[in-house]
Amino acid sequence: MSTIDVQAAVFTGPNQPLEIQQLTLPAEPGPNEVLVRLAASGVCHSDLHALDGEWETPAPLVLGHEGAGVVAAVGSEVSDLEVGDHVILSWTPSCQKCEFCVSGNPVLCQLANETAYRHVFFDGKPRLSDGERDVKSFLAVGSFGDHAMVPASAAIRIRKDAPLAQAALVGCAVTTGIGAVVNTAKVEPGSTVLVVGCGGVGLNVVQGARLAGAKQIIVADVSAEKLELGRTFGATHTVNSREVDLVEAVRELTGGRGVDYAFEAIGLPFTIEACYEAIRRGGTAVVVGQVADGVKISIDPFVMSDQEKKLIGCNYGSTRMSIDFPKIVDLYMEGKVDLDSMVTDRIRLEDVNEAFAQMRRGTGIRSVIEY
Ligand SMILES: NC(=O)c1ccc[n+]([C@@H]2O[C@H](COP(=O)([O-])OP(=O)(O)OC[C@H]3O[C@@H](n4cnc5c(N)ncnc54)[C@H](O)[C@@H]3O)[C@@H](O)[C@H]2O)c1
Ligand SMILES: [Zn+2]
Ligand SMILES: [Zn+2]
Repeated sequence: MSTIDVQAAVFTGPNQPLEIQQLTLPAEPGPNEVLVRLAASGVCHSDLHALDGEWETPAPLVLGHEGAGVVAAVGSEVSDLEVGDHVILSWTPSCQKCEFCVSGNPVLCQLANETAYRHVFFDGKPRLSDGERDVKSFLAVGSFGDHAMVPASAAIRIRKDAPLAQAALVGCAVTTGIGAVVNTAKVEPGSTVLVVGCGGVGLNVVQGARLAGAKQIIVADVSAEKLELGRTFGATHTVNSREVDLVEAVRELTGGRGVDYAFEAIGLPFTIEACYEAIRRGGTAVVVGQVADGVKISIDPFVMSDQEKKLIGCNYGSTRMSIDFPKIVDLYMEGKVDLDSMVTDRIRLEDVNEAFAQMRRGTGIRSVIEY
């Protein structure tokens, strides 16, 4: 079997720097797979959860799940993609057959849950090799490599005139943030919205709330720099939650009422609880941030029933990738969604560990690896 070489950043175990290694992929995709030459990959906090050992993650594995590139080869049964197509990778491939896929909820795909979320393909096997061992691909994407094999349903074609560094971010942060507002919570025009955490995901929640016509968008973060960025993406009010009590500040800003919607975009138990406290009677708190394995939250179920307060979860912005990815790219090309300001660092693959150090420090929005 002929193979191609892949230069990739490999996870070898928690709290170890990623290692740049030469790996191989089969040159021929499986019948329902495509080989993608990556142009760019964003560095997301979910990669950091894995790297920091907050999520149990097998090694060796190529991290990265926010990628875009160009189709280099297609499998024999792939009819809707061609070599040369520009694609954004989806970290939830859709089997297109299970009850969730068929009912329009591909982010809940049964088969993806059993396979891609364990970093293997639909047949339960990885595709990469280091010559001695199989190497897994994070969420069956593994975008910290210059090539990736992916299930065909995970390669979503987009227009060719869109820049791929910006498009890569649509593969996770942008779709998750905007989708949380538009698809998951279905925020109505005139709503009041709180966004806790102004990172890559949270700033896109802000952007989504602006698109949805929210009248008040309060952002909270512990970094003054991030709060300023929140304003540039559409926030009307900022709360530095290192300096003041978040829930009290939100009550004050909403005349004692609380917000209609609160989005947690960090992944910490106490900020999820604060979001729940900060919503009005009948309001909705949305958990977008993802916690470390085993973390639990505490909420008062009496308040939940008595005040009809809702707590809902959001996976991947409840997106339908093949519809939403091209739509968001169009909105960007029309100037209605800002992706340019999201790309705060353009880096080489070799610099990926520094991008994680920066994320831990909480500076910048997205580092994007360009291949
Ligand atoms: N639900 C999903 O489908 C989905 C998709 C992508 C990412 N995520 C999760 O979303 C979360 C955010 O990801 P990201 O890439 O935007 O991360 P990020 O590191 O870019 O941003 C996190 C932000 O939170 C702020 N912050 C940290 N501690 C804080 C605190 N105590 N109070 C207030 N602000 C605080 C930081 O300053 C930073 O601005 C992660 O948990 C990630 O795993 C979820
Ligand atoms: Zn992500
Ligand atoms: Zn499915």
